[in-house]
Amino acid sequence: MARHLITSALPYINGIKHLGNMVGSMLPADVYARYLRQRGHEVLYICATDEHGTPAELAAKDAGLPVDTFCSEQHLAQKAIYDGFSLCFDYFGRSSSEQNRELTQHFARKLNENGFIEERAIRQVFSIADDRFLPDRYIVGTCPHCGYDKARGDQCENCTRVLDPTDLIDARSAISGSSELEVRETKHLFLLQSKLQGEVEQWINANGDQWPTLASSIARKWLTEGLQDRSITRDLEWGVPVPADVWPELAAEGKVFYVWFDAPIEYIGATKEWADQEPGARDWKSWWYEAEDVRYTEFMAKDNVPFHSVMFPATQIGTREPWKRVDFLKAFNWLTYYGGKFSTSQQRGIFTDAALELLPADYWRYFLMANAPESDDTSFTWELFSSSVNKDLADTLGNFVNRVLSFSRKRFGDEVPAGAAAGEAEVRLGEQIAELLAEYEGHMEALQFRKAAAALRALWSAGNSYLEEKAPWLEIKTDKEAAALTLRTAMNLIHLYAVVSEPFIPASAKAMRGAFALAEDTKTWVSPEEARALDTVAAGTAFTVPPVLFAKITEDDLESYRERFGGGDSGQ
Ligand code: MF3
Ligand code: ZN
Repeated sequence: MARHLITSALPYINGIKHLGNMVGSMLPADVYARYLRQRGHEVLYICATDEHGTPAELAAKDAGLPVDTFCSEQHLAQKAIYDGFSLCFDYFGRSSSEQNRELTQHFARKLNENGFIEERAIRQVFSIADDRFLPDRYIVGTCPHCGYDKARGDQCENCTRVLDPTDLIDARSAISGSSELEVRETKHLFLLQSKLQGEVEQWINANGDQWPTLASSIARKWLTEGLQDRSITRDLEWGVPVPADVWPELAAEGKVFYVWFDAPIEYIGATKEWADQEPGARDWKSWWYEAEDVRYTEFMAKDNVPFHSVMFPATQIGTREPWKRVDFLKAFNWLTYYGGKFSTSQQRGIFTDAALELLPADYWRYFLMANAPESDDTSFTWELFSSSVNKDLADTLGNFVNRVLSFSRKRFGDEVPAGAAAGEAEVRLGEQIAELLAEYEGHMEALQFRKAAAALRALWSAGNSYLEEKAPWLEIKTDKEAAALTLRTAMNLIHLYAVVSEPFIPASAKAMRGAFALAEDTKTWVSPEEARALDTVAAGTAFTVPPVLFAKITEDDLESYRERFGGGDSGQ
């Protein structure tokens, strides 16, 4: 069995993330990690906060805090929220760690030894009003390719093309808005990506076809445009310093590595942080270095694809060391808020902290994954959210669980009733469940989350149809044994749902499983074959009725959500 390494794009430290950020990275990675663990695989799921760069410096300045204090606080704040969403990282690290500093410097040294780094004098944009050099992303203007008028100097968010600030039309400072910009000369390190084009191309030709089209097409587009040599240092106070023994002059000037250079290396850095928690017992290197038996899956939104599919692999290749490269790159489109952009800076949309204040994590987890922006953007609306929650979670799943358990307790007491032997309806049900389960597994293996959620929903619906068909509330009037069989079968469905729904709704799954006092409930998965029998929970097993699993979202709730977060009107 392969060992599975999973990483999700590292969330920036500069503030609490919105739901759009989470649906394209951490949440699907968590669902996949949980699924693989349940299937018995060895999994290492790593994430971290992305702490360097201008956004961190500026956010700290806004908060009136030294940048390291700001980052420590924000790291904990984000970590608490991800715990709230039940994200099961093996480790949630920090790109400002000592481990990442060492690795980043190591990568730079190796790249330099192999002739892939060059020192060059460049002309850089200096903002007179702000009295500082402006990093690329703090210059905004109109994208020369698509005309988007809020393109950043490093990349156009609209068409995802990588840009140089001087490409921008009507460039201005994102800090002050001033267009009083002037170009000055300063020295920087350049990563000679152009020299690595051929090798990256070869690697993508061999691997990229297995990725979703969204990812491979972005990678190919980038290669077609040609890999450019890129500056990998910045004039900032906060970051991984350029090693003084190799580049004394730049180090003396206080140059640090560009955040996009050290951030992906933090995937490795955080693994080392994880290992350093238990020295001797954990081996970070076996996951990353000469790790042929590892299958590595990355999760990210589409704007991150160029960096992960081309730039980071080029960095890895250029070290001439056997670093583990991504095997499967799962990319997502955007989640929009009523068709408009979620925006951290403009506080539009729903932020992860606000989401958790409103409703339990499972509601969001299920909704977001069932509507994940896989083949297209997804527009979040409160109407879609509430109909998804009310129909799927409350009516289909929650109601089934509650109805079955309450009714059985009322008529048969606190133990699973025995009843008649399985009949024709149960055989048919078993077959249907086995089939749907196999379908569900197939979609999970293929990382097709919307389809997986649909199969899960179909599993829940099958229980409802069975219950409607058998109508134990009628059976009980004429044939108690028949009613008992129906209820026992339905309770086995509940247990099955608890097991297989866990990747999507872990807390509710736990509550469902906890309803049954099984002596030894170590089952981590149910195979389609086992599912057919529907007999895990034997007659005589004690059970309790859990509190209502999912409360419905009412019209009044909707009204207040729309008011608090803005409905359709804020979308443009
Ligand atoms: N912080 C970046 C973003 O939110 C993602 C960094 S992913 C990494 O877009 F690979 F660089 F770590
Ligand atoms: Zn563009």
